[in-house]
Amino acid sequence: MPVVNRARFISLEGLEGAGKTSRLADLKAFLEGHGKTVLATREPGGTVLGERLRELLLAPDEGPMAPLTELLLMFAARNEHVTRLILPALDAGRWVLCDRYVDASYAYQGGGRNLGEAPVAILEGLLPARARPDLTLLLDLPVELGLARANRRSAADRFEQEAVTFHQRVRDAYLARARRHPQRYCVIDAAAGPDDVRLAIERAVERLL
Ligand code: TYD
Repeated sequence: MPVVNRARFISLEGLEGAGKTSRLADLKAFLEGHGKTVLATREPGGTVLGERLRELLLAPDEGPMAPLTELLLMFAARNEHVTRLILPALDAGRWVLCDRYVDASYAYQGGGRNLGEAPVAILEGLLPARARPDLTLLLDLPVELGLARANRRSAADRFEQEAVTFHQRVRDAYLARARRHPQRYCVIDAAAGPDDVRLAIERAVERLL
């Protein structure tokens, strides 16, 4: 018999400046209001080693890094995250909200860095099959709008420093993923006001409750 009340794994994706961080905090509160215990976490990061890898990956003065090296470091952090945090949390009945996950590697390394899907798919295949999100919320907005919002917020990291064309490839790759996986993805218009975005997310998540 299917377990209807099992804990769910939800990932949030989007361009820089899409507002994932605030929406994740709202969603955590929403789920807790429905009696769920929730682990909110992020990639790259989430574990001690993962956060150290994040520093290396995001530092604007880190210098050149071969795209495949970048992808491997993302997956090194991810493997720690999945085995030490995400799967144990799901096993313990906690819902997992993850600020970026595998789809970010398809978008940023596959699309942005032009590596294509194949190397990402190989690494994804090494993760346990259970480590797949039940729902991926893609906060989508035009590149220029996202970058303008992100630049107002803080100093640019290694990805935010990239050209507009890089971010356009990232967006295109995310939208292609959403078309390919319509059951799992929900594309949300992140150019809308914060309340509209929050409500759209809650509507998408309600069907999992
Ligand atoms: P981000 O999630 O945007 O954090 P913040 O809101 O603090 O800026 O930063 C993570 C960056 O890492 C983002 O630019 C995308 C990048 N990234 C990848 O390139 N590949 C990946 O697989 C992941 C998880 C993130």
